[in-house]
Amino acid sequence: MNTDMTSHRRFISIEGGEGAGKSTVISALAEALRARGEPVVQSREPGGTALAEKIRELLLDPDHEPATVHTELLLMFAARSQHVAQRIAPALASGAWVLCDRFTDSSYAYQGAGRGVSPTLIETLEREVVGIQPALTFLLDLDVAAGRARTRLRGGAPDRIEREQDAFFQRVREGFLARARSQPARFCVLDASRSAAEVAAAAVAALEAYQA
Ligand SMILES: Nc1ncnc2c1ncn2[C@@H]1O[C@H](COP(=O)(O)OP(=O)(O)OP(=O)(O)O)[C@@H](O)[C@H]1O
Ligand SMILES: [Mg+2]
Repeated sequence: MNTDMTSHRRFISIEGGEGAGKSTVISALAEALRARGEPVVQSREPGGTALAEKIRELLLDPDHEPATVHTELLLMFAARSQHVAQRIAPALASGAWVLCDRFTDSSYAYQGAGRGVSPTLIETLEREVVGIQPALTFLLDLDVAAGRARTRLRGGAPDRIEREQDAFFQRVREGFLARARSQPARFCVLDASRSAAEVAAAAVAALEAYQA
């Protein structure tokens, strides 16, 4: 962890590539917490506030000129700044658990490992703009082709980032795994090739162990 980042015990992120099962796992985690009467706020990135969701639309829209790497990076952090200030920090202050579908690790994986932005720049933005890290991060690790097959089954037109080549998503996967190796105390890496029920059960068991 960056030494000057605040880590909040009730702040949990769920990371992974396209179709790895993040949305599926986050629902199971929220349900497990609510069953125990715990307050839960579920959110996602990019997005989570009205303005951040508008930034998400800009980021995912394939119908404008190609975004530069730095446009993409800075829009991600602009959305994240709004999200932390307007939604995550107030929810944590109220005592709720915050379950976030993607957070700054996605910037290290997509803009860093995927697009070649220097980790030093991302670290600076993380420290100066975000200032907070989840205390627990689930990484759903899945073969790129298997993730693509799942999202294809779901249908719909691919967004701007989903249109990238497999080699890009392979770098993203390796970027996530490298993050997990460098911060083993924070990460819980789950083999996401198992059935949805098995992956959800493994995530809920890890959360229970974490809470104990
Ligand atoms: N373990 C699993 N095995 C098979 N199918 C799964 C599994 N987990 C989720 N799915 C299905 O695969 C699709 C993608 O799952 P999900 O939407 O949870 O992934 P995601 O990581 O949130 O994807 P995205 O990156 O597009 O947000 C969905 O149709 C979901 O029902
Ligand atoms: Mg999802």
